[in-house]
Amino acid sequence: MILPIYKMGSECLKIVSTEVEPDEFGSEPLDQLIQNMHETLIDSGGVGLAAPQIGVNKRILLIEYTGSKITRYSDIGDCALKVIINPKIEFIGNEYTAFNEGCLSLPNLRGEVIRPKALKYSYYDQFGKQHSGEDNAFFARVLQHELDHLDGILYPMRMHDISKLSYADII
Ligand code: NI
Repeated sequence: MILPIYKMGSECLKIVSTEVEPDEFGSEPLDQLIQNMHETLIDSGGVGLAAPQIGVNKRILLIEYTGSKITRYSDIGDCALKVIINPKIEFIGNEYTAFNEGCLSLPNLRGEVIRPKALKYSYYDQFGKQHSGEDNAFFARVLQHELDHLDGILYPMRMHDISKLSYADII
């Protein structure tokens, strides 16, 4: 089921979400939620979706993209669907990169956000299996953006220069 996406200003986007409990892994309600999130993500054309964006304040996010199909970003590669639950990240090194981010909760806007480039991550999938890895490219960027949603943070709150917030379709 495709669900409505809450926009900036909604209370559910402002609060810290709670962790998924061990007994929820592999359960029917969790499976249904993830299925709905996936359908919503596909319908939206986005690259990531966090549960608070559909009004569920749990630490769940989905990331999925096919770089060649997304013309607004270049050279981002592909990421098969990742269901990311209770994620933890740790930054590696002290290199930062600037990137023009967008968000389904701020339609038609883009803003330059400077974030750490490289990170280590670990998370659980919907079956409770733990995954971990490192990234220093587009996935690391999306993961930081989506994880911020779980802590009530939207990307304009991360911007150093708010004059770089812009509509995507300016002439
Ligand atoms: Ni977002």
